[in-house]
Amino acid sequence: MAGNRTFTMIKPGAVRNGHIGGILEQICGAGFKIVAMKYTQLSPAKAGEFYAVHKERPFYGELVEFMSSGPIVAAVLEKDNAVEDFRTLIGATNPAEAAEGTVRAKYATSIGENAVHGSDSDENAAIEGNFHFAGTEMF
Ligand code: RTP
Ligand code: MG
Repeated sequence: MAGNRTFTMIKPGAVRNGHIGGILEQICGAGFKIVAMKYTQLSPAKAGEFYAVHKERPFYGELVEFMSSGPIVAAVLEKDNAVEDFRTLIGATNPAEAAEGTVRAKYATSIGENAVHGSDSDENAAIEGNFHFAGTEMF
């Protein structure tokens, strides 16, 4: 059975461009409930750890540099079928391929600076939520 939680980050580029409000409105309007949320900045070490699965990829250095370049909004979200429905809401990794109206189509500026993160499985949603939040910070 599909789980009901996912983890997201509004990435530094979208924060710098003033899109926190628009993105949260779209997320909540799509029926996701905020279970945990914080405004924070990742150190390069923490960003590297979060995206460690990509450490052999050519874009890893750039990804770590970008994700630690400014504040982010991190959140755990709840909804039936959360992981899949959230990936549909945000659209494809490359905004040029993201469906019209998706978060990345509206707010991403490039494949690297693509506005938001969304967990890719129930297992990773739990790992990523626990990476950012203590149990007492999730409601
Ligand atoms: P995310 O993990 O951030 O939600 O993104 P995703 O699942 O859609 O994509 P993934 O394959 O997990 O890649 C993680 C992030 O790495 C950056 N990326 N850059 N320059 C490139 O070719 C490239 N490819 C990926 C993106 O920021 C992507 O979201
Ligand atoms: Mg991913």
